[in-house]
Amino acid sequence: MRVLGLTGAGVSAESGIPTFRGKDGYWRNLDPARLATPEAFARDPKLVWEWYRERRHRIRNAQPNAAHAAITKLAQRADEFLLVTQNVDDLHARAGLPKEKMVQIHGDIFVTTCSRCDFGFTERKHDHEQEQEQEEEEEVEEQNVVPRCAKCDALMRPGVVWFGEQLPWTEVQRVETYLDRGVCDLVIVAGTTTTFGYIVDWALRASRRGGELIEVNPEETPLSRFGTRLVREPAAITLPRLVDRFIRSR
Ligand code: OAD
Repeated sequence: MRVLGLTGAGVSAESGIPTFRGKDGYWRNLDPARLATPEAFARDPKLVWEWYRERRHRIRNAQPNAAHAAITKLAQRADEFLLVTQNVDDLHARAGLPKEKMVQIHGDIFVTTCSRCDFGFTERKHDHEQEQEQEEEEEVEEQNVVPRCAKCDALMRPGVVWFGEQLPWTEVQRVETYLDRGVCDLVIVAGTTTTFGYIVDWALRASRRGGELIEVNPEETPLSRFGTRLVREPAAITLPRLVDRFIRSR
């Protein structure tokens, strides 16, 4: 069985991480143009960092849920598997999904990268031996300092994709390579409004030769009309069931 998973913010919703759109979503009260664009960062880097640090903090304190666990289980059982997640959190990884089976197409919130040169680093996240160091880092974060590049002194920024920016080329290539190698028997699209055309495109390309295209989302999306099965339930309830059914049916 060859499988493609596509996930979005809804998969982490039950871990207590807000989605972007929808009634409790970030974009309900916050303006993306003030927080998630290169222009916003140029205008007010402090405000942008404050928002990302708040989110990092929330993610650090969150736990993967049953949806993340189910996707990891599917990855272990499928002959070939790739997850393309729009989520910048690390909950898929913390649920045990190996890096090589996952593409974080919108980046990684724990990466800090230079806004000018190629310097960057990943924050140590959940290493308890490093707890003290992390606390110190958090203290600095609380002071809301905008970090500067150790190499070129430009402002450092979160390693995420903002509106108006290109997707990371190597990550796009990983998706393209997986799709070029063959169609999928199963495509699961969970917890995303599929606002971005490339998500719809990848789902359709992967399932184009009769593969099952399952959407898991309490609400309708632009992808819904192409789905072979639509499950209008929360991902943490549906995905464990779906995955078990697929494993049993093999
Ligand atoms: P959205 O916030 O746009 O959509 C979340 C989706 O999850 C909605 O369709 C909800 O109906 C659904 N949902 C909510 N709770 C759910 C649950 N428990 N189980 C399953 N589905 C649930 O999030 P994304 O589609 O991921 O990009 O957003 C895509 C991108 O837009 C994000 O990566 C971010 C954002 O702006 C950037 O920052 C570049």
